[in-house]
Amino acid sequence: MFLVTGATGTNGSEIVKQLSAVGVKVRALVRNLAKAEAIAQPGVEIVEGDFSQPETLKTALQGVEKALLLPPFDSRMVEWQSNFIEAAKHSGIKHIVKFSALGADQNSPVSLLKWHGQGEKQIEESGISFTHLRPNGFMQNFLTLAPSITTQGVFYQPADNAKISHVDVRDIVAVAVKSLTEDGHEGKVYTITGPQALTFDEIALQLTALIGKQVKYINVSPTDFQRTLLDFGQPEWLINALTELFEFYRSGQGSIVTNVVAEITNQQPISFEQFIKDYAQVFLDH
Ligand SMILES: NC(=O)c1ccc[n+]([C@@H]2O[C@H](COP(=O)([O-])OP(=O)(O)OC[C@H]3O[C@@H](n4cnc5c(N)ncnc54)[C@H](OP(=O)(O)O)[C@@H]3O)[C@@H](O)[C@H]2O)c1
Repeated sequence: MFLVTGATGTNGSEIVKQLSAVGVKVRALVRNLAKAEAIAQPGVEIVEGDFSQPETLKTALQGVEKALLLPPFDSRMVEWQSNFIEAAKHSGIKHIVKFSALGADQNSPVSLLKWHGQGEKQIEESGISFTHLRPNGFMQNFLTLAPSITTQGVFYQPADNAKISHVDVRDIVAVAVKSLTEDGHEGKVYTITGPQALTFDEIALQLTALIGKQVKYINVSPTDFQRTLLDFGQPEWLINALTELFEFYRSGQGSIVTNVVAEITNQQPISFEQFIKDYAQVFLDH
C-alpha cells in the first residue's frame, strides 16, 4: 500500500492518478472529504487526515509500505511534516519520498528552503529509507499570472533578470511516481529542473510569440512586491517567505539545470515553450 499526502493538490492529485494507473494500491490522505471526489478512482482508498492531528496520521499509515510526504506551503510546515515523520517511525513504513524544493538546506537563510531542509534531515535521522525530490519553481505557477497577461499583456515579479530553470509539474510527477514504484531510488536526492534556465523577459517573448499578443515582464522592487501582497490581504509569513525566495532567485541560485528528469523517466523534460503551447487556452481565455 502506498500513501499519498497532499493528494488533492497540484502534484498529489496527479501522482494518485498515475499510481493507480500503473496498478499499485493507493491510499490518498485528504483533510476535506468533499474534495476527495476529484481523485476517486478504482484502486484508490480515501482516508481522512490532517498533518496537524497526529492520531489521524497514525491511522492513515497503518499497513503502508511507502509514502509521499508532500507538506503544504504553510508557516506550520516544520511541525506538520514532523508529525508525519514521527507517526511514520512507529508504523513500520519502509520508504518516504519527501516532496521538497531546490536549494533545501536546514541552514538556509530562505525560510521555505530551511523548513524543507529540516524535514529532509529529520527523515534521514529517523532511519527510514528516503528519496528527496527537490523541484525548482513550477511552470504551472504562471497559470496564476494569466489574468494580468490576458487583460493587460503584462506580468509582475521581483526577479530582476534572474535566470530560472522552471520545471513542468508533469515532469515532477513522473519522477515522483518512478521514485515510489521502482527500486534504486533509496538515499537519493533529486534536484528536478526544466531543460533551460530563462529570464522572465525571455519567457515574456515566448508568450508573445505563442499566444500572438504582446506580453511584457515588469520587474518590481521587493518593497512594491510586498506592498501589493499586503494589499491583497496575504499574511506576513507568506510575504516574507516569497520575498526571500525571490532574493534566492535574484542571486542566480535558481538557474542550475539538471538531467534528473531524463535520467529517471527516460523522457526529455518539457520545455517552457511546450508548456505555453499546452496551456495556451488559459493565457488566451481570461
Ligand atoms: N510552487 C512551486 O513553484 C514549488 C516549487 C518547489 C517546491 N514546492 C513545494 O511543493 C509543495 C506544494 O505542492 P503542490 O503545489 O502540489 O501543493 P498544493 O497544490 O498547494 O496542495 C497542497 C495539498 O496539501 C493539503 N493540505 C493542506 N493543509 C493540510 C493539512 N493540514 N493536512 C493535510 N493536508 C493538507 C491540501 O489539501 P486541501 O486540498 O484540502 O487544501 C492539498 O492537497 C510545497 O511543499 C512547496 O514548498 C513548490
